[in-house]
Amino acid sequence: MRQAGRYLPEYRSLRQAARSFLELCYTPELAVEITLQPIRRFGMDAAILFSDILVVPDALGCAVRFEEGAGPRLTPIRTQQDLRGLALDGLQERLAAVYATVRALRERLPEDTALIGFAGAPWTVAAYMVEGETSKEYARARILARREPKLFGALIDLLVEATTTHLLAQIEAGAQVVQLFDSWAGVLPEPEFVQWCQKPAARIVAALKAARPDVPVIAFPRGAGALYPAYQNAVASDGLGLDTAVPLAWARRALPETCLQGNLDPIALVVGGRTMRAEAERIVAALAGSRFIFNLGHGVLPETDPDSVAELVGFIKSLSPESA
Ligand code: CP3
Repeated sequence: MRQAGRYLPEYRSLRQAARSFLELCYTPELAVEITLQPIRRFGMDAAILFSDILVVPDALGCAVRFEEGAGPRLTPIRTQQDLRGLALDGLQERLAAVYATVRALRERLPEDTALIGFAGAPWTVAAYMVEGETSKEYARARILARREPKLFGALIDLLVEATTTHLLAQIEAGAQVVQLFDSWAGVLPEPEFVQWCQKPAARIVAALKAARPDVPVIAFPRGAGALYPAYQNAVASDGLGLDTAVPLAWARRALPETCLQGNLDPIALVVGGRTMRAEAERIVAALAGSRFIFNLGHGVLPETDPDSVAELVGFIKSLSPESA
């Protein structure tokens, strides 16, 4: 569950006391506490590290701020000169607080609660770096990718390296699974999707598998639609996150070997009650008997009632007694 914090009062009170969102990410005691909050309340089978995909550009030298109500702001990267200002060297030192958080979490989490580390995929992170902010269409990033494919390709290459380093460091620190979020994969036409989403993800997964074949990797090319199977063929991750629009019977047929994850509409969780249970049942029925991880198709919305999350976790556990 992503950006899980905002619906929890205990997260909001820590957030209010901090100077900034990134201070929470870079202060291990706070990041540990926020990671543990949903586990304490709901006892999910896995915890996702509290951090953000934008700590990687921040550590590369593309300063990130989170502005109240406006979302993230980054120093835009649009020219060769901007790109030369970024440095891969020392990335692990600049992100040491994240790895300290992972190490502390492995100590503090219950033995049988898996810890998921994560990073943004190169296309999604590059899109934020070029735009300098959240955008609906990521037009500036897509224009740069077409007008100056060499420059954009160099940015993607840098992010492939940085992302691999960041994920391996999380694994070394104790993350037992890692997930790669490509939240804006769905805005690209097929050839560009292959070039900027699929190939970079394949390089990252190959490097992770070469170093740590024992650690499962989940890829989440949100909005990939009919391109999901070709992506999975090329990337060969262990798990694949499905957004809310993916038809499950089709996904199960097209991806028989892959552990599928996700798909629950976050709105069904906001509505709660019978609507939520019916949606959860539909997903479980479609994927029963095959490898899958119950999850949402995107992040928990801030207006979600924590009691609905408790009900959902209880409902899912009642369907799979071995994990209760
Ligand atoms: O659920 C968790 O808390 C796990 C940690 C986590 C966060 N962000 C914390 C967070 C994870 C896995 C993410 C991933 C992330 N961050 C993605 C990929 C997944 C997705 O949702 O598509 C993206 C695109 C980001 C970038 C980002 N970070 C955005 C666009 C925002 C929202 C800014 C806003 O004002 O709406 C964030 C902030 C963020 N990251 C919050 C949290 C808990 C909310 C911060 C706050 O307002 O307190």
